[in-house]
Amino acid sequence: MFQRIFSILIISFFLFAGISMSLAEGEKGNARKGKYTYRKTCRTCHTQGGSAKDLSPVDKTQAQWDEIFKNIDKLKCGDEWKKISAEDQTDIYAHLWGHAFDSPSPEKCQ
Ligand code: HEC
Repeated sequence: MFQRIFSILIISFFLFAGISMSLAEGEKGNARKGKYTYRKTCRTCHTQGGSAKDLSPVDKTQAQWDEIFKNIDKLKCGDEWKKISAEDQTDIYAHLWGHAFDSPSPEKCQ
């Protein structure tokens, strides 16, 4: 009897942990997809020799990326952002923020 209750407890723990983890993931966006979308859309301008300056996640801190994403309208390229979906923007945020200068895994675009 005790064993049964115990295994039910264990199973529900992993179930809940799994659900809350996938929810948290959803809120923050999909960094992998964001990396792809960033390359495909933003990097057409933001690259060496492009019409805007080379821009990689590592060029800003997480706080700076937070500020930028709160004030997209103030950017010179704000209109460009309107061409992509809110979901894509969240994914891009996840990529840039996740590899920012002060993140555990800073990243420079190749
Ligand atoms: C049509 C070209 C173009 C596209 C596409 C574009 N930008 Fe820009 N962006 C610019 C220009 C031009 C500036 C202003 C000059 C500069 O900073 O190089 C700018 C400025 C910025 C800045 C401020 C610069 C800084 O160092 O603080 C950020 C951040 C930025 N863009 C991010 C993005 C992101 C993210 C995307 C993709 C969603 C994007 N841009 C798409 C042209 C573009």
